[in-house]
Amino acid sequence: MSSKPFISALGFNGLTKRYDLLLWTTFPERKIKKALIEQLQLKGNETLLDFGCGTGTLAIMIKEQYPTVNILGIDVDDNVISIAEHKIKTKGLNIPIKRFDGQNLSFAGHQQFDKIVSSFVFHHIPTALKRTLFAQLYRIIKPGGEFYVADFGKLKNFNTKVAFNFFRRVDGKDNTQINAEGLLPEFIKGGGFDDVQILSSYNTLFGTVDLIKATDKQATLRKIKFAKHQNGHFRMWATNLRDVVWNSIEERLEQRNKKFLICNPIMIFLFLSLMLMLLEISFTQ
Ligand SMILES: C[S@@+](CC[C@H](N)C(=O)[O-])C[C@H]1O[C@@H](n2cnc3c(N)ncnc32)[C@H](O)[C@@H]1O
Repeated sequence: MSSKPFISALGFNGLTKRYDLLLWTTFPERKIKKALIEQLQLKGNETLLDFGCGTGTLAIMIKEQYPTVNILGIDVDDNVISIAEHKIKTKGLNIPIKRFDGQNLSFAGHQQFDKIVSSFVFHHIPTALKRTLFAQLYRIIKPGGEFYVADFGKLKNFNTKVAFNFFRRVDGKDNTQINAEGLLPEFIKGGGFDDVQILSSYNTLFGTVDLIKATDKQATLRKIKFAKHQNGHFRMWATNLRDVVWNSIEERLEQRNKKFLICNPIMIFLFLSLMLMLLEISFTQ
């Protein structure tokens, strides 16, 4: 198709600047992205990665709804990155966009992100590279983190078969093969995620889009177990602290009681009265 090592947003470089308009007029982009954002269930303190962010629409939608999340966008295409940066600047948002080589996520820290999102990217990526990238994305997500993918899956509406086949020619047969066979969830699993589900599907003019959620259930369980373990430690520590505090209070009370017995004027009066009584008794005998 071209000498560049990736497929640009609309298959041809010259069309990139029309990407947003074309999507807006022919595709339920917002509906699918809104559904993805809803699934994220963000609290606002998360660190997110938008993998293959393109013109930045998804990252912008997330940041507008959750201004306190930290979201980083990455993409391979300088053209699309400059459109994203322009949109972000116009909206006065803070979303860094990083260009990377499309293959190597080594710039990202081990277990750096709470959640990773990716919309309409993996049908641009050759089968072998898909495997590598899913394994790398698994490495950079925190234990118990979530990975959301919106992308083309197995065709569910055969009225769109012709358009889907044309679209596959543009984006490359190999790049779209795994998607067309409905094997994307299996491939995501292959990266290390052990729980991968299709949450919903959308029939569009160009084919069926699946919204996929991937997590590492075992890692989530380990995280809960660790938290319980930590909680157990905390409880033990709190009990010890309580005992130490109580013991010292009791000691002090005891000492105070001794002082109380010795220094209290009533006690002195009673003591003297007793002494006098004893003296009187001894004198009268
Ligand atoms: C169809 S566009 C989708 C863009 C955006 N995520 C969206 O939802 O509008 C596909 C994007 O994937 C990017 N891309 C292609 N190969 C990639 C790779 N190996 N790694 C990351 N992004 C890639 C392209 O540059 C393009 O911006």
